[in-house]
Amino acid sequence: MEVVIRDTAEAAAELTAAVIAREIKATPHLVLGLATGRTMESVYRILVRKHRDDALDFAEVTTFNLDEYVGIPGDHPCSYRYYMNQHLFSHVNIDLARTFLPNGMAKDIATECRQYESRIKNRGGINLQLLGIGRSGHIGFNEPLSALRSRTREKALTPKTIEQNAPMFGGSEQMPRWAITMGVGTILDSHRCILLATGEEKAEIIAKAVEGPITSMISATALQLHPHCTVVIDEAAATRLEQLDYYRWVFANERDWDDFR
Ligand code: F6R
Repeated sequence: MEVVIRDTAEAAAELTAAVIAREIKATPHLVLGLATGRTMESVYRILVRKHRDDALDFAEVTTFNLDEYVGIPGDHPCSYRYYMNQHLFSHVNIDLARTFLPNGMAKDIATECRQYESRIKNRGGINLQLLGIGRSGHIGFNEPLSALRSRTREKALTPKTIEQNAPMFGGSEQMPRWAITMGVGTILDSHRCILLATGEEKAEIIAKAVEGPITSMISATALQLHPHCTVVIDEAAATRLEQLDYYRWVFANERDWDDFR
């Protein structure tokens, strides 16, 4: 794992989008894992700008989103399909037939989950997985006690997640109680992953995810097992980390980051 600290949330999103853009340029048929949520909105805004101003080409890119709510259709304004269309897909030259999200309206959810895993596998796995982190420490909707080897499945959302996302639904009463999510094991199978977290409200959980012991109570700690995981944070989200000087030293010295400093 490596930790990259940027001054502001915008600079952290810029760096995350720059990593994604570099991967797409290097591998035009990239299989890209996507996340939703407030933190990702700036990343998608920057990717849209790169498409418009720098001709970043999504024509051959395939995407797999981490998760989707159960029981709301893709045209519901709170569905993650709608979010992706609004923030990214409608503004770039991606082929919608190559954009995958779990179908939260599927009659047989267990079959839908198995098929989602097969679709990822049939495309050779996820090259780069984008991740956010919830205040409960979830990645995707892998809530506390999610098995570290779990695969795509249906999960009940925790009260903390319901509280975090309820404003989007106009209150917790309207919020779905279930979601389909890639498992922790599915995420760990990605070739590379990049977790973006910004703001003071993420400082405590970031410290636990990066420096705490690996535990299924905080699924993001499993990323310590990932062979190539980058955690990108702003100064506000970095305040509870103990080894800041070390992370800054690694970033200043690793050749991989030569183009980004
Ligand atoms: C959603 C997802 C979640 C979010 C996390 C952070 O697809 O994967 O794990 O990334 O809940 O959400 P925000 O950015 O809204 O704080």
